[in-house]
Amino acid sequence: MKTYRLQLRFLLPLVATLIAAAWLAAPVFDKLTLRWFSRDLTSRGILVANALSDSVADAVLYDRVQRLKPLFNRAVEDERLFAVGVCSPSGALLTKTDRYPATLDCERAAEVAQEAQPHLALEGGSVHVAVRDVLDRRPRTPGTGAEFGLPLPQLPPAEEPATTSEPLVLARIVLLHDLSFIERRSQDTRRYLIGMIAALGLVISFITVVVAQLSWRGWVNGARALMRGEVLLAPITSSPELAPLAADLRGRLRDLEDEYRRSQGPETEWNAGRLRQLLKTQLSGDQVIVVSNREPYIHEKTETGIVVKRPASGLVTAVEPVMRACSGTWIAHGSGSADRDVVDAADRVAVPPGHDDYWLRRIWLTPEEEQGYYYGFANEGLWPLCHVAHVRPVFRESDWQAYKEVNRRFADAVVAEARGDDPVVLVQDYHFALLPALIREKLPRATILTFWHIPWPNPESFGICPWRREILQGMLGSTILGFHTRYHCKNFIETVDRYLEARIEHEHSTISYREKDTLVESYPISIEWPREDESMPPVAQCRANVVARLALPQQACIAVGIDRFDYTKGILERMNAVERFLEKHPEWVGRFVLVQVAAPTRAALDEYRNFSLRVQELADRINARFGNGTYAPIVLLAKHHEHDAVMELFRAADICLVTSLHDGMNLVCKEFVAARDDQQGVLILSRFAGAAREMPEALIVNPYHVEETADALHRAAVMPPAEQRERMASLRSTVREFNVFRWAGRMLADAGRWRLRARIEERVRRLGAS
Ligand code: F6P
Repeated sequence: MKTYRLQLRFLLPLVATLIAAAWLAAPVFDKLTLRWFSRDLTSRGILVANALSDSVADAVLYDRVQRLKPLFNRAVEDERLFAVGVCSPSGALLTKTDRYPATLDCERAAEVAQEAQPHLALEGGSVHVAVRDVLDRRPRTPGTGAEFGLPLPQLPPAEEPATTSEPLVLARIVLLHDLSFIERRSQDTRRYLIGMIAALGLVISFITVVVAQLSWRGWVNGARALMRGEVLLAPITSSPELAPLAADLRGRLRDLEDEYRRSQGPETEWNAGRLRQLLKTQLSGDQVIVVSNREPYIHEKTETGIVVKRPASGLVTAVEPVMRACSGTWIAHGSGSADRDVVDAADRVAVPPGHDDYWLRRIWLTPEEEQGYYYGFANEGLWPLCHVAHVRPVFRESDWQAYKEVNRRFADAVVAEARGDDPVVLVQDYHFALLPALIREKLPRATILTFWHIPWPNPESFGICPWRREILQGMLGSTILGFHTRYHCKNFIETVDRYLEARIEHEHSTISYREKDTLVESYPISIEWPREDESMPPVAQCRANVVARLALPQQACIAVGIDRFDYTKGILERMNAVERFLEKHPEWVGRFVLVQVAAPTRAALDEYRNFSLRVQELADRINARFGNGTYAPIVLLAKHHEHDAVMELFRAADICLVTSLHDGMNLVCKEFVAARDDQQGVLILSRFAGAAREMPEALIVNPYHVEETADALHRAAVMPPAEQRERMASLRSTVREFNVFRWAGRMLADAGRWRLRARIEERVRRLGAS
């Protein structure tokens, strides 16, 4: 529609020009045609006069002028000849046709014929007057006349002396041509002229529309390429007409970058302040809404009153500091037994308790919804599907329906919480694959950043999900879709390629689906690096506390594992490795302990209940084999531990074991490193955790390989303090730099750039439409 309006801007002046041209050209053309027809009449007059002159000469010579009338009447049958008359040389009208005007004598006719426009106005219209002499062509020597086959008549009185060689004028023919015929012709010509100009106008308009359409498309494509940064970076060779616009944009972006850099000061490490600053500069302080299933603070009823708990969740560990920095609203499932008791009328409560940095908006789910959406589709379907940990995914139609319904309810909550039409929405994890598209439907201008905290499998594995297309379509409602690693991004892009008709630009890592672009990028998640002023109890004290509390041998080498009680965490494999280590190195029996914290999780599911039983059984078996009344090599603490207790364990430990069979990132290893400001302790890390890519200084193991993990345990147990320090210092500097504010900052900065680009694109579009 807009392009047509644009084309009208070209067409209207064109049509106006054509009309003006026709208006100016018509009188000129009239004059021209009049002149052509007058000339035509003159030559016709000569022709007619020549044709009649012999008959007229004979009639005059033989005094039979009246006999000319039938001849003249035949001649005026031609529509263009109006009347004919014959005058004597002395000016007497000898004969004439019927329509010859009575008022036109020979003298007047001669006068009019001499005029530049020899026209005479009559009652019925104008006539063109022409007078032609009829000459005596006979030889001037008197003869018998026999050569003419006629007796020589009496010559009329000669007007010229007989001696002159000039032929005598015998009579004059007056020819009156009908000028209305010329008018008719000229009207016809004018009609043809206007018709021709109109046809020409139509052809030119058509060509203009086609050319304008093509150039508009080319221009729009060029402008889009510009927005994508293609011509901003490369020299403009393909669309030179966009060069000025590209130069302007380049300038503007440079200014913005400068402005941003200035606002950031010298290149500093990422922290809460820098993230807040980024939010202000790049996203103009736009409202941030986080959506996750798990809430960051859970209110529980206890015998002593309501207590606030922090869940065992990597997601919460990472996102909570970001929310404290950015404020806004966090929407999550209210799962605590006292959650309803502390919210206001809008189901909101300010958190963290006592600080009130942001709002927690709770969504209530029925037991059926929780069963279908959370336990069923999310944790029996998507969780094993994405982890490929050899547990069969279960897909039930009823779970899928509940999943869709709950996603819809969260989308409604996002819309209700949004203060404007373009909030920044951070959608977290596999519980909300459909949410991005549902939000996009209601808030088309929102910036939706979806982060998938778990791995993304290859297309074949993902293909077994009966609703694979719907899941992918839902996720592609996101502006930015984040995974922990490039490998997961690649798997996702290949999956889309396999199951949807989308356009993929590998170079920019973008997917265009139904006219909408999604950037697929890797953002390795991390933790908040402890502040300098955040003092932790000394390592020796932590160790003493743990040894005392768990009744461990005084000189024990302590290894810790801190996990949710989940089959993907490799807890069984870890225990098998401990058993093998003690088998291979019996000198460590009585001196080595694995303290395994396993926070109960998803206990309503058989798979999880069975798993915790198997872990318990294995621990009992190993303890029975290597332990005695006072010593147990495995201390299994199957309960949730609060942050401080976890920190104490990390600081007390010599070794931290992270042996996930498959993990998006795993933040336990990063928290262990952050806890060790004494630069001691060894990290054993599964190569199947995303973190292994960032932390090569750990002892990297394949948890499926018992021997290898047992050897790593031994290597860690005997590692000299200097090597521990070297490895730990390097790990700490990585985690410190690549902290969670950097994770959020990179995503928000990309979102900021994306919004800026969208705004410029919008402006270019409006420019084109105006
Ligand atoms: O790892 C995936 C994940 O959703 C994390 O984001 C979170 O740490 C963990 O699972 C918590 O699981 P749940 O909320 O089911 O207890």
